[in-house]
Amino acid sequence: MRMVDLIAKKRHGQSLADSEIDFFIEGYTKDVIPDYQAAAMAMAICFAGMDARETARMTLAMARSGDTVDLSSIPGVKVDKHSTGGVGDKTTLIVAPIVAALGVAVAKMSGRGLGHTGGTIDKLESIPGYRTALARDEFLNCVRQTGISIAGQSGNLAPADKKLYALRDATATVDSIPLIASSIMSKKIAAGADAIVLDVKMGSGAFVKTLDDARALAGEMVSIGQATGRETVALITDMDTPLGYNIGNALEIIEAVAVLSGEGPGDLAALCVELSANMLYLAGEDSINVCRDRARRALKDGAAIEKLCELVEAQGGDASYIRDPSKFPTAAATGAFKAPEDGYITHMDAEGVGRASMLLGAGRADKDSAIDHSAGIVLKHKTGACVKRGDTIALLYAADAQGIEAARAVLGAAVTIGNEKPPERPLIHDRIGGNREE
Ligand code: URA
Repeated sequence: MRMVDLIAKKRHGQSLADSEIDFFIEGYTKDVIPDYQAAAMAMAICFAGMDARETARMTLAMARSGDTVDLSSIPGVKVDKHSTGGVGDKTTLIVAPIVAALGVAVAKMSGRGLGHTGGTIDKLESIPGYRTALARDEFLNCVRQTGISIAGQSGNLAPADKKLYALRDATATVDSIPLIASSIMSKKIAAGADAIVLDVKMGSGAFVKTLDDARALAGEMVSIGQATGRETVALITDMDTPLGYNIGNALEIIEAVAVLSGEGPGDLAALCVELSANMLYLAGEDSINVCRDRARRALKDGAAIEKLCELVEAQGGDASYIRDPSKFPTAAATGAFKAPEDGYITHMDAEGVGRASMLLGAGRADKDSAIDHSAGIVLKHKTGACVKRGDTIALLYAADAQGIEAARAVLGAAVTIGNEKPPERPLIHDRIGGNREE
C-alpha cells in the first residue's frame, strides 16, 4: 500500500477501506508516513469528507494508537463528559461531583486551556496542593475510593490524534466535521468511557458558530458512539455569551463552589443539572426527569459540594479553599470595564471576553506560556442587561496595570450596546441521540 495512492483516492472523493485508514494512522503515529503526506490527506478529507464508516474506523484507529485506560475494575457504567470548549465553561467542576455524589463513578481526564478557552486542569491547579498529574494506578485508586478523579490526560493517550491535531492546526485543516468528531471521540474511547455525554458549544465563543454546523458535528459524534458501542448523547448549548459570570481559573472555582452550594448563576446551574441528568440517564435505569430531580437535590442537600471536597483532598489539595473560597488570593492589579453609553447590551462576544481574560493572564497564548491563577474577569452584566453610561460591566483582575488596559480595549470591541433589548437565546438548542424509552 502506498500513501500517495490513498491521498489520490480520497482527493477523488472515494471512500477509504478500513485497512487503508489503519495504514495511514499507524504509519503516521510511527513516523513512517511523513507530515507532508498526512497534511495532504487531512486537506483531502477537508474537501471530500468521510462517510460514517470511515469516520468510526479513523476514531478507533486513533484511540488504539497508544495507551488505553481500562476502567473495568470500577463497578457500573462509566460515563464520560466532554465539552467542545467555551468561555466561562466550568461545568466539569460541577457536573462531575454531582454525578459522583449520586453513585456514578467519574474517571475524568481533562485538558488545559489554549487560546481564548479555559481548561479544567488549569482551574483545578488554582487550589493549593491539588495534583493533576496522577500515575494510572493512583487515578484508578482515587476513583475506587472516592468515586471520582479529575486528572490531566496521560502522555500517550491517542498519540495519533495529538500528532494529527498539531499538524491540522498548522495546515488550516482543523475545521472538518469528520476530523473534529474523530479527534474528540478517539480520546474519549481511549480514556475508557462506556457512555459519553457531549456538550457541543455553539455561538461566537465556540468552535462552531451556527446551529447547522453544531448539529452536524453532534450527529457525527453520536454516530461514532453508536458504531463503536458507546451510547452517546449530545447537547447543543449556547456559547454566544460567556457561561456564568466568572472567567479565569480561581474565579471559576469560586463560581463552581457557589453552584455546588445551591447558589450561583441560573444559566450555569441549569446547564449543569441538564448535563448531570444526561450522564445519570446513560448510567442507569431512571427516566431523564427523575435524573434531573436527583441532580437538583444533590446541589441542595450538600452532597455535591461534599464530593468536591473529597476529590480535592484525595488529590492532595487544600479543601479549606472550597469550604471558604475567600481564601483564594486576589490579583495584584484590579480595574473595571464600564459602559461607554446608556442602552442594552445587545451582544457580548464570548470569544472577545475570552481573549480579554487571556490578556489579563488567565489563559495561554501558546501551549508553554505560564498562567496567573488569580487573573480573570467577573462580569456584572451580560447580554440583555440595561446599563447606564459609567456602570461597571466587568471587574478585571491581572498581575499588572498593562494587562488591565489591554483587556479593557478588547472588551470595548466585544461588548455592543444598542437601543433595543435583544431576543433571549435558549441555553440548550438541541439534544441529539440517547432516546431510550422513558
Ligand atoms: N477538539 C479536539 O479535541 N479535536 C479537534 O479536532 C477539535 C477540537
